[in-house]
Amino acid sequence: MTNKRIVLSSDHAAIELRQKIADHIKTKGWEPVDIGPKTPESTHYPAHGEAAARRVADGDCALGIILCGTGQGIMMAANKVKGIRCGVCSDVFSAQMIREHNDANMLSMGARVIDDAAALQIVDAFVDATFEGGRHGTRVDMIKAIEA
Ligand code: RB5
Repeated sequence: MTNKRIVLSSDHAAIELRQKIADHIKTKGWEPVDIGPKTPESTHYPAHGEAAARRVADGDCALGIILCGTGQGIMMAANKVKGIRCGVCSDVFSAQMIREHNDANMLSMGARVIDDAAALQIVDAFVDATFEGGRHGTRVDMIKAIEA
């Protein structure tokens, strides 16, 4: 992948974890594009999910990692943006599979669901995996067809 930019966003529930992920992906040779929010006041996850998703959909960033309390609400918002395939993961296997089988371009996690160490392992699995294509490509094309 020539574009090494990963957009990061969250709501108030995951400000600290987002910073840890930004530091971590830098050590892996990726450029974190952290679009906030910076301060811990209560905010609205749909806006942050959409903003991150647009960075991926328009090609500015190759991948996105988004966070909220459960990872669920922000994932739902991101998936409303055309071209986005975002899964919520709480385990390493799922994170690998959403790249290899579903060609996910965004990962969502819940800062109130998993601990920081698990989140970083999930990030590694997601970022290091590659889409397998083949029969999985047929199925991803079917997802794209629904969107069209
Ligand atoms: C915020 O309290 C919480 O609802 C949000 O972080 C998230 O879990 C929503 O899905």
